[in-house]
Amino acid sequence: MAKEKILVIGASGQIGVELTMALREIYGNSNVIASDLREQNELLRGTGPYVSLDVMNKEMLHVQVIRQGITQIYLLAAILSATGEKNPNLAWNLNMQGLLNVLDIAREEKLQKVYWPSSIAVFGPTSPKTNCPQHTIIEPTTVYGISKFAGEFWCNYYYNRFGVDVRSLRYPGLISYKSAPGGGTTDYSIEMFMQAKEEKQYQCFLQEDTYLPMMYMPDAIRATIELMETPSHNLSIRTSYNIHAMSFSPADLADEIKSHIPDFKISYQPDYRQAIANSWPQSINDSVARSDWGWKEQYSLKRMTNEMINQ
Ligand code: SER
Repeated sequence: MAKEKILVIGASGQIGVELTMALREIYGNSNVIASDLREQNELLRGTGPYVSLDVMNKEMLHVQVIRQGITQIYLLAAILSATGEKNPNLAWNLNMQGLLNVLDIAREEKLQKVYWPSSIAVFGPTSPKTNCPQHTIIEPTTVYGISKFAGEFWCNYYYNRFGVDVRSLRYPGLISYKSAPGGGTTDYSIEMFMQAKEEKQYQCFLQEDTYLPMMYMPDAIRATIELMETPSHNLSIRTSYNIHAMSFSPADLADEIKSHIPDFKISYQPDYRQAIANSWPQSINDSVARSDWGWKEQYSLKRMTNEMINQ
């Protein structure tokens, strides 16, 4: 195997911390360079190299890629759905320009591979609500969803036109405890766990019967690494793959938490994020990911809750 040198952009975020640690296990600590605008996350401290980097500064990014001899980039820096609605221009600029900077550098420096996450947020109110297929009507209504959908087609374009081997997954809501999430609509689930443990009560910003596709972080990290390790000729999707693990509502999650914390109390006060959630599918058909590269989830709602409560 050729020696890889991997740059993770957005390494201090919810996905970045755990993905950086998983990549360091595989490729060796010194071969995975963590970078972020923010300070280095506590969990990463002492585990490998860190550089302070702004993905919007293309020249600085390019210099780092050359100086460090980077062969692969994982671009995780983004503004999520709920925060994006508060500042649409900022979300569009960061989510789009960040990706275009990375794709251009990957092309110029002939990088081996690039990873960039998309999301279930690409789907909109006209997409099928249940078992939403890989290829379907896609009319997103959030700026985050629009940026992810446009980004998927930029990835497809750079692959077909310039041969940049960029790969992508449409993540569902991701649940984790190691590093805090930031500004997502599905993050109610993480808040519910934290509040259940600390306060034994939680006021949810979505209605009790709002079903959304969700995934536990270890599954998401494994999916990402499995996709990146798949031989290129097995991949039929160069926009972004649907992946699915579980679908539940706030009431389902509250019931599951109550089986561990019987006196947990939940109340509901939906806000602007309800409209975002309503525009997304409740469950996803990921049969293409399953047949192309063997995707299969390991965590159900029950198993995930058990681990979240005991951490
Ligand atoms: N978890 C994301 C969000 O809620 C969806 O990709 O914004």
